[in-house]
Amino acid sequence: MDIKTKIEQLRSQIELHSYKYYVEDNPDIEDWEYDKLFRELKSLEGQFPQYITPDSPTQRVGGISEKFAQVAHKVRLYSLDNSNNNDELHAWYNRVLKETGVQEQGQLSLLRHDDVELACELKIDGLAISLIYEKGVFKQGLTRGDGVIGEDITNNLKTIKAIPLKLFEPVDIEVRGEIYMPVTSFEKLNQIQIQNNQKTFANPRNAAAGSIRQLDPKITAMRDLSIFIYGAITDNTDFKTHTDIMDYCKKLGFKVNNYRKCKNIYEAVKFCEDMAQYRKTLNYATDGVVIKVNSLANQRELGFTSRAPKWATAFKFPPEEVWSKLLNVEFSVGRTGIVTPVAVIEPVLLSGSTVSRASMYNFDEIQRLDISLNDEVLIKKAAEIIPKVVKSRKTSSSKPLVLPKNCPCCNTPLVEVEGEVAVYCPNKKHCHAQIKGRIEYFVSKQAMDIDGLGENIIEQLVERGYVYSFSDIYKLNQQMLMTLDLIKDKSSSNILNAIEQSKNVTLSKFINA
Ligand code: IVH
Repeated sequence: MDIKTKIEQLRSQIELHSYKYYVEDNPDIEDWEYDKLFRELKSLEGQFPQYITPDSPTQRVGGISEKFAQVAHKVRLYSLDNSNNNDELHAWYNRVLKETGVQEQGQLSLLRHDDVELACELKIDGLAISLIYEKGVFKQGLTRGDGVIGEDITNNLKTIKAIPLKLFEPVDIEVRGEIYMPVTSFEKLNQIQIQNNQKTFANPRNAAAGSIRQLDPKITAMRDLSIFIYGAITDNTDFKTHTDIMDYCKKLGFKVNNYRKCKNIYEAVKFCEDMAQYRKTLNYATDGVVIKVNSLANQRELGFTSRAPKWATAFKFPPEEVWSKLLNVEFSVGRTGIVTPVAVIEPVLLSGSTVSRASMYNFDEIQRLDISLNDEVLIKKAAEIIPKVVKSRKTSSSKPLVLPKNCPCCNTPLVEVEGEVAVYCPNKKHCHAQIKGRIEYFVSKQAMDIDGLGENIIEQLVERGYVYSFSDIYKLNQQMLMTLDLIKDKSSSNILNAIEQSKNVTLSKFINA
C-alpha cells in the first residue's frame, strides 16, 4: 500500500471512531487504541506533509486569530417567540391552524378538527452558530452575532470533535445548531478556574460562550464543548418536513437530538410535560422545548415576523425549585446604604447552574418566612433572575437568626424607615461599604465606563484611603497604584489610561454616573 492510501485509510478509521465517540456517544474502541491510530497518522503526516488536508483529524487545532472577521449570514438567524404556559401554546397553535387554512377564518363554527403536525425538540441553552460545508468539507463557522452579521470562529469550531470536518456525503449544506458545555465539564472547569485564581463561570452557557470566543483555538480545544444541530438550509426539494431534514443531517454525520413528531398541540403539551422531568437527568442545560410546524410547505405559508418564525414557538420550562440547607446569612450594604440579607447555602444545582448564595430581599421577608440558621430552604430561580429563598422548614439543628442592629461594615446603628421594608446604614459619608458601592457604580459600563477598576481594586483603593469621593479617582497616579495587589503587571497603566478615556464618555453616561 502506498503512503497516501495508508494516510487516507487511517483518516477514515479515526473519523469513524471519533463519530462513534463524540456524536453517537457510543465508542467502539478503547481510548488507547484511538490514540495509537492518531499518533500513527500524525507521524506519517509529519514525514509526508504534502498529504496533509485541511479536513484531516490532526488539523483541528489551527493558528491564533488576531480578531474575528465579521461575515454576513446568507440566511438570517432568527430568534424564537416564547410561550410561557399551555394557554399561550394553544393560542399559538390556533393561529397556525388559521393561517395554514386548516381552520378557515369565519368558519370556526364548522368546528373542523384537522390538525397540523408538529415536531418537538429540546431547547438547548447554549450559543447559536452556523456551519457551512462545501462538497462535504467544513469551510466556515459563524456565531449568531445580531442574526444578520456573525463572527468567523471557524478555527475554534474545528476543535469541537462533535463537529464533523468531513460529512459522509460530499454535499453543499449550511446547518444551524447550538454549542453547549456539558454540566459536569462546566463544574470541572470552574474548579480549575478557582485553582488558577481565575473568575468562575456562572453557568454552562457562559462557560461555553467564554470558551468559543477565544482568539487562541488551543484554549477552546481544552474546553469540553459539544453541539446539537437543529436546522439546515438546503436547496434539496426532496425534503417535505423539518424532521426529514433532521434525519438527513443525522445521516450526514451531525449530532442531532431526538425529536418527537406530535399530531397536534395536545401531544406537544404532553411532550413538554415529559421533558420538564426528563431534562433533570441530562448532562446539558435546556431551557424549554421548541415546537415547530413540521411541514415545510406550511412553514413557508406561515413565514416570519420581523424577529421570529411564526411556524415555531419556544415553550419555557416553569422556574425550577430545589431544597438546600441555610448555612449562614450575610448582610451586605449597598451603595445607597440599604442592608440586604444574602443566604449562604449548601451548593446545589438549579436550572443547570451551581447555586451557593441566594437573595432574601429584606429583614421583613426573613421574619415573614420564619427563617432560622440551619433551616432547610427552598430556592427558586426564574429565567435570568438571581435565585431567591421562597420557603423554609425547621430541622433539629435550627437556631435563631439574629438580625444585626448595627451596620456590618461601619458599626453605625441601623435605621428603619416607617412604612418601608428597607433597613439603612445612615453613615452615608464614611461607611466604606457604601463608598465602594458608589465607586463601583460610578466606574461601571453604564456610567463612566472605566475598564480595569474591578471590585477587588476598588476595595483596596478605599481601604487605603486613596479613594473617598468620585473626584479622587482622577487624582490617582502610578505610584499609588503600584502599592496595590494588582492582577497583572501592565494593569496599573491600563487603569490610568481607562481613567483618562473616561473623560470622553457620552453625556447620558456622565449624568448617570
Ligand atoms: S430553532 C428559525 N431549535 O434558541 C428558528 N432553536 O431563543 C430558529 N435553540 O437562536 C431556532 N435549541 O439558538 C431552534 N432545538 C432548537 C433550539 C434552538 C436552542 C436556540 C437558538 C435560537 C434560540 C432562540
